[in-house]
Amino acid sequence: MLTAYDYPTALAMDQAGIDSILVGDSLGMVVLGYANTLPVTMEEMLHHCRAVSRGAQSALLVGDMPFMSYQVDVQEAVRNAGRFLQQAGMDAVKLEGGRDRLEAVRAIISAGIPVMGHLGLMPQSVNQLGGFRPQGKTAPAASRLLEDALLLEGAGCFSLVLESVPARLAEFISKKLSIPTIGIGAGAGCDGQVLVTHDLLGLFDRFTPKFVKKYADFHGEMKRAFGEYIAEVQTRQFPAPEHTVEMTDEEWENFLSNTSQGT
Ligand code: KIV
Repeated sequence: MLTAYDYPTALAMDQAGIDSILVGDSLGMVVLGYANTLPVTMEEMLHHCRAVSRGAQSALLVGDMPFMSYQVDVQEAVRNAGRFLQQAGMDAVKLEGGRDRLEAVRAIISAGIPVMGHLGLMPQSVNQLGGFRPQGKTAPAASRLLEDALLLEGAGCFSLVLESVPARLAEFISKKLSIPTIGIGAGAGCDGQVLVTHDLLGLFDRFTPKFVKKYADFHGEMKRAFGEYIAEVQTRQFPAPEHTVEMTDEEWENFLSNTSQGT
């Protein structure tokens, strides 16, 4: 699984054979430039989900429910989850939280909407967690995480993201559950993996978590291409004749003789 937020990225990913695309609320940080995911709105999510759904033909599409779209009341959660499928081409939704979100998870699933859970580092709770920190590192925290994972499975989640938790704990939870776990910063013992695509491509230069592997340096490549363009425009190397529209000499002469301003 990878994240995508636009048509061309979804197209390339789908053609590369990705199983699933998450339109993550990481959108807020890596595309919209917010400091965290909290300001992301339903309208922003739906706009980007629509673009992704136009690019992806085969992948399972999961829309991330933004902060305050499912926490306030269960009916609102169901209505917002439904919008991802009805108005934005998603196949499923993801939401953060364990025992505190079971009611919303059950209600969304009973409306016929598949739900992916998300435990461990939950960026929407960054202010409660005291920053983007690994979770489940003490025995009590690990037990609580396992309990929450079992509760989410029991509530009917079809899959579970485990973010930034110790690898041995993620593997243990993965073995205990019958639904697939998708790890991010949770080691190789999960059933699947997800990364934020802008991190993988080296496109987001502000901050790179320890668990990211950069497969490309798109930020560097973009800077190089933009610099080359600026230099070529300034020296009039661009546009060259092959990038330029022409007209015949005959039409040009006619134009000059017919126009009072021709010289
Ligand atoms: O928003 C997101 O991209 C996510 C992934 C990090 C799992 O939730």
